[in-house]
Amino acid sequence: MSLFRSVVRGTGSALPRAVVTNKDLEARIDTSDEWIQQRTGIRQRYIAGDGETTVSLGEAAARRALDAAGLVPEDIDLVILATATPDNTFPASSTQIQRRLGITKGFAFDVQAVCSGFVYALTTADLYLKAGMARRALVIGAETFSRIIDWSDRTTCVLFGDGAGALVLERQEGDPSGPGVLISRLRADGSHGDKLFVDGGPSSTGTVGHLRMEGREVFKHAVGMITDVVEESLEALSLTPGDIDWFVPHQANRRIIEASAKKLGIAIEKVVITVDQHGNTSAASIPLAIDHAVRDGRIRAGDLVLLEAMGGGFTWGAVVVRW
Ligand SMILES: CC(C)(COP(=O)(O)OP(=O)(O)OC[C@H]1O[C@@H](n2cnc3c(N)ncnc32)[C@H](O)[C@@H]1OP(=O)(O)O)[C@@H](O)C(=O)NCCC(=O)NCCS
Repeated sequence: MSLFRSVVRGTGSALPRAVVTNKDLEARIDTSDEWIQQRTGIRQRYIAGDGETTVSLGEAAARRALDAAGLVPEDIDLVILATATPDNTFPASSTQIQRRLGITKGFAFDVQAVCSGFVYALTTADLYLKAGMARRALVIGAETFSRIIDWSDRTTCVLFGDGAGALVLERQEGDPSGPGVLISRLRADGSHGDKLFVDGGPSSTGTVGHLRMEGREVFKHAVGMITDVVEESLEALSLTPGDIDWFVPHQANRRIIEASAKKLGIAIEKVVITVDQHGNTSAASIPLAIDHAVRDGRIRAGDLVLLEAMGGGFTWGAVVVRW
């Protein structure tokens, strides 16, 4: 029987024009650059301005990923967008990215797993490709969390930023040691729904609502959940943390990233960290970080790359990819 793999052909990312530094925030709310950096490692974030939306950022990231892959929009027959901040309640923002790119074949849908959205979307795309339902997928994470933040709540507004990242995945017949998505493990436990949520929605309040978070509670669960799912993925592949070339975690907080890497036994030099530059961009954070590490030459063909995320729901998951 033939073995099919979902192979990464190209990556891309996009950020809004405006940078907002911690110093800029000091002028608006009761906070300090020192507090933010010490607690989170964040120095700055990008914030969407006029005309910049989840769809426009997602489109820009997708175009760069297609360029990097040497492909054109007509080559794509599946678009999956991970987002918790779509332009409209419906149609799905993925369909509007598809429209802007001029793709008329195949199918498109959004995946909503908040900060775990990208690992959910990548896993979903991988399964569709392996099943032969599509040949080439654009897997995008794009967010404009600045539009659901309560800018008067200093405990949350300093943490998030906007942006987008994208991967082109291609169904290829391969060998077990070749490139492609090797394994995914996804989890959800809705009993934690009140720890990180948006206090509005189409069916409850008829409003968009604002992000609310019990930061300490999230922190308390994050490291354990992340390491459990990573260890399970590596075990299933008979790999050890030492085999990983690059660890690209969801970029929520430098302290969570460092504690997870330490618990897993992954050297900090192998961890891709962009939270200092981008803040927490939710579903966009992993593909944004991947694109940076690919373009600066860190992630190369043949590397074993470990992705993981945890977020609202709670949802969490890990994906291991041979580049
Ligand atoms: C949010 C987080 C950085 C807060 O750090 P913390 O050490 O837990 O801080 P606390 O919430 O206990 O607050 C400590 C103090 O700082 C204050 N504070 C909160 N936000 C502040 C800010 N932006 N600037 C200055 N002070 C702030 C609090 O009011 C509190 O003051 P008090 O002691 O006088 O009451 C931390 O809990 C965290 O990273 N959680 C995980 C969040 C996350 O990553 N979520 C996304 C997951 S996808």
